Amino acid sequence: MQKPHPLVAGNWKMNGVTASHAELEALSTLLKTDSPAECEVLICPPATLIASSSNMGLSAIKIGAQDCHSEVSGAHTGDISAVMLKDAGADYVIVGHSERRADHDESSDLINAKTKAVHNAGLRAIVCVGETDAERVAGDTSTVVLGQLLVSLPDSCTSENTVIGYEPVWAIGTGKTPTVEDVADIHTEIRTALTERFGEDGAMFRIIYGGSVKPSNAKELMAALNVDGALVGGASLKATDFNGIIAAYRA
Ligand code: PGA
Repeated sequence: MQKPHPLVAGNWKMNGVTASHAELEALSTLLKTDSPAECEVLICPPATLIASSSNMGLSAIKIGAQDCHSEVSGAHTGDISAVMLKDAGADYVIVGHSERRADHDESSDLINAKTKAVHNAGLRAIVCVGETDAERVAGDTSTVVLGQLLVSLPDSCTSENTVIGYEPVWAIGTGKTPTVEDVADIHTEIRTALTERFGEDGAMFRIIYGGSVKPSNAKELMAALNVDGALVGGASLKATDFNGIIAAYRA
């Protein structure tokens, strides 16, 4: 049976200035000199570095954005549309990251609209979902995650234009991770929800795990059932660390 091609994505969040291009250059060199990895590699730098990063012409590294507005253009001071991100050289846009849901009160309905905007611009969306610690302790992980998922995904989603990022909020930036069994269980529930909603194509969506992924735990997390890659925050800032995570997909 055909399987999704894994994606290892770095989310630099609000980190990075012009000097950070050196990390991209270093990552590109590592990808060339190390043995080939069976995955796609993506870095989502802050919006200020998208055009310059994509102009570096590093063929092994795709460039993405961390958010977009739901409309194409208009009177929205400070916002950036998916069309603009495409113009700047982005291939992917992360939408619905838990930090956006929390800091900017983003609802799953808004994330649905943003995801549609990403698709309309001809880009790929990485749609993030995940439970808080309180929700996990209350035993609500499945309800919360599947609830966010089904509302956040518009009907325009296909396995080509959409990646699902499962990121337990309590694991982000904390050094804590769920057990491999817990990751496999929730990824499998997401897989089932995708096939129920999108039919056969649901089997080909990439479902990537995020939350304290590092070189020392990447291999076992990436080996879990229905885990098709990683969404990496802190450990994506250093080329050597990120390359160590990509190593989970080296023979
Ligand atoms: P982390 O962040 O790897 O620093 O935990 C992951 C994310 O928020 O995407």
